[in-house]
Amino acid sequence: MRTAEWVWEIRAEFPALEREVEGRLPVFLDGPGGSQVPRRVIEAMAAAMIEANANTHGAFPTSQRVDALIAVARQAAADLIGAAPEEIIFGPNMTTLTFQISRAIGRMIRPGDEIVVTRLDHDANVAPWVALEERGAVIRWVDFHPEDGTLNLEELARALSERTRIVAVGYASNALGTVNPIRRIVEMAHAVDAWVYVDAVHAAPHLFIDVQELGCDFLVCSAYKFFGPHVGILYGRMDRLMALQPYRVRPAPDRPPEAFETGTQNHEGLAGFIAAVDYLADVGRRFGNPPDPSRRAAIRAAMDRIREHEQALCARLLEGLMEIPGATIYGIRTMARWAERVPTVSFRVRGWHPRAIAEALGREGIYVWDGNFYALGVTERLGLEGQGGLVRVGALHYNTVEEIERFLETLGRLLARK
Ligand SMILES: Cc1ncc(COP(=O)(O)O)c(C=O)c1O
Repeated sequence: MRTAEWVWEIRAEFPALEREVEGRLPVFLDGPGGSQVPRRVIEAMAAAMIEANANTHGAFPTSQRVDALIAVARQAAADLIGAAPEEIIFGPNMTTLTFQISRAIGRMIRPGDEIVVTRLDHDANVAPWVALEERGAVIRWVDFHPEDGTLNLEELARALSERTRIVAVGYASNALGTVNPIRRIVEMAHAVDAWVYVDAVHAAPHLFIDVQELGCDFLVCSAYKFFGPHVGILYGRMDRLMALQPYRVRPAPDRPPEAFETGTQNHEGLAGFIAAVDYLADVGRRFGNPPDPSRRAAIRAAMDRIREHEQALCARLLEGLMEIPGATIYGIRTMARWAERVPTVSFRVRGWHPRAIAEALGREGIYVWDGNFYALGVTERLGLEGQGGLVRVGALHYNTVEEIERFLETLGRLLARK
């Protein structure tokens, strides 16, 4: 298996991929924790800090440039996920945005109202909802199937009732790589008039997101996971946003989206975010077949290409790990079910602590994560919390088949040494 030609071309745009760390070129398989960025993102951020470094709504050019920058960023986010710009709220990261929205929703919660959360989710889509117990909310937990890491939809169906107000669910698991059937979950939740809050942080670098198609009420992601800087992006359906009363300072605008954006935004981060979205669109225009000249069509074409390449990476990863003596892969193991996963693969090796594996790989220039990745419900459910959790290998589109081979070969060698 060989790496597609276009991947080598785009790799040249990522300065970090060409820089040695401690004398060797690293293999970045730590993407689920944060991605590397193309040069244009870095340049856009630097340019913003030189040319448009002011606060908003002023009477002078640099301030007006910031106002324009924010409008362009909202349009970029809208194009990325299929929303209207007025439905886009920016913030520091997914976790902070989710606490903000859960607090606003908390104002409408009456004692006995129910909120559904899942054990498959990152804690950032759990803790902000569990916090509403202080408003009298009752939390209903939905399990996943430990044998393949898929959500237990029968249990979800049983958890829903006319008392359910919110269903908080992840689009893709950052621990096991499972892709949840969001559209179906939305249909189930809407049938009892509950709102659905989707954590798309782990989905965004891998899947084409369309909030209209999904039908969700809220969706949140983080640009640093998809080749941008540290900026959080929240979509809220306009009628839902209008129904909420966010916590805000008095002089700030009282209408969405600004009413939900506390304080001064990370303007240079927004500049980088726009560049990251344009990077993805360029991947689609250069290497895909967008049916029309719009940025949205180009992004879809890019994600198609990316998904195709990631499929090859994931196939090799699963195949190679399966051959490692004593290795257990958690989550979906067969490529026949590729539609239900992204190329984030977690495993353990009998007799090895996950940190020891990650450390040994790290010394060889191969960067992988170990632990629970804040997906606490997953490691608890699998009985691995307190045991070091999992080793997680996360491929992104800039990874090559050769890098996967280097990872597998190094892992095999390290394990044989013990
Ligand atoms: C699935 C998922 N949700 C939420 C988060 C939290 O995102 P942020 O760091 O933007 O708060 C992460 C970060 O790792 C994640 O992977």
